[in-house]
Amino acid sequence: MNLYFLMTALFVAMAGLMAADAALTSFTLIPWFNGLRWLRVHFITLGAITEMVFGLLPAIIAIQVGLPRPKFRWDIWLTLNIGLLTLLVGIPIVNQALIFTGGTLVFIATTLLIVQLYEMKVSRPVAVADNGRSHNGRKFYIVGLSYFLLGIIVGTGLWLGWSSWLRIAVPVEVHIHANNWGFLTMVFAGMIVDMYPVWAKRPLAWPRSITPIFWMLTIGALGLVIGPWVKSNWFSVPGIILFLSATIWLLLNVIKPLWGDKEAWTHPGLWHIVTAYWWILAPVLVAPLIILNVPGFPGVGIEQNAPQALVYGWVLQFGYAFIPYFFYRMFLPNEPAQLGGSWFSLVTVNLGGFFLWASIFLTAYQGILHGTAYVLWTLSIIPIVLSLWQIMRRGLATMDTGEILLEGSSAGN
Ligand code: HEM
Repeated sequence: MNLYFLMTALFVAMAGLMAADAALTSFTLIPWFNGLRWLRVHFITLGAITEMVFGLLPAIIAIQVGLPRPKFRWDIWLTLNIGLLTLLVGIPIVNQALIFTGGTLVFIATTLLIVQLYEMKVSRPVAVADNGRSHNGRKFYIVGLSYFLLGIIVGTGLWLGWSSWLRIAVPVEVHIHANNWGFLTMVFAGMIVDMYPVWAKRPLAWPRSITPIFWMLTIGALGLVIGPWVKSNWFSVPGIILFLSATIWLLLNVIKPLWGDKEAWTHPGLWHIVTAYWWILAPVLVAPLIILNVPGFPGVGIEQNAPQALVYGWVLQFGYAFIPYFFYRMFLPNEPAQLGGSWFSLVTVNLGGFFLWASIFLTAYQGILHGTAYVLWTLSIIPIVLSLWQIMRRGLATMDTGEILLEGSSAGN
């Protein structure tokens, strides 16, 4: 077992608590407090998902390229988690020294992980393997983590005044774009490329589309980062077009082989993965209306609130599917693992997204709609937290104590 899984379970539970808190503050039942907004988003992104990504990628690549299971890297785990905890203290109290220290440690952990993944050289020829599995995920992960480095620099500098000497026109947007269109989009795409043949028991529709999708997402994300950096649509518009077409192409790669296979769609996990992508496409689809400044269109409202639907609807929901899957692999390796999630979570997490977006357009009912969105998201997390708890409890009960602490991850096989 590796310790990233424990931290992931903790952060998923904390994300549930923060969503409940956000609902109560939206209903003005409890007071708002400084840092709430940052914690609400980052317990999911920087907490649960980043912990899982750091815990999984070395193992997934080792399997893909035929290398032995990687040893647990205490230096990466310690720098990431001490950095995270320092930020969790420093950001709500806006302490510059703690923000700088925390951001720097997370930056070091990410750099160490990139180097570890880069050094995991292929030990068998690079080709689409006979079972339709190819190991193209590695380049997605390395590019994604490189975008994360940029997201960390801009995020750490947001309240340290770095945005001015970095000459960033819209720093929060650059931060959000680097981390979501860059970091997580690339890592999730890499996971789909590597794990889809295992999850769906068939290859992606067009294995040879993986490299063009890789370059379209990489360059699309670059356009979406440079655009708000220099405040020029000459970068944002091509970025949006490349990103949109590559994401739709990736989704069609996932859906086409399963089209008409009723049995495949009888599990909520696949629906979580596919519907999650609606919440990253929605802000991109309305972006042209914001860029064209269509009168009466709540551009500012969308820029201020859409990131929450992006994080809960796309990032967290994608996590609902893959986090329990890898928990099964880790804690109950002798049982068949399947994608996580539940029909209840599927309905509530997506309804939450609709209510959040409705709160942007129906401003007269903003408070009640915004609060309801968070009630629905809180409800959607509960079955996931319970399933992670059950898997861990059953797994730890069967695991030999000695094995628990030292073994490297066995998640990817
Ligand atoms: C060391 C890592 C990070 C630091 C220091 C950091 C810092 C920040 C700061 C200071 C803000 C502005 C908060 C505000 O103005 O209220 C912010 C906003 C945001 N960050 Fe990060 N962040 C980090 C990692 C991430 C990651 C990994 C993601 C996503 C993948 C992310 C997504 C966001 C989003 C979506 C917002 C906007 C929140 C909102 O508008 O509600 N951040 N971040």
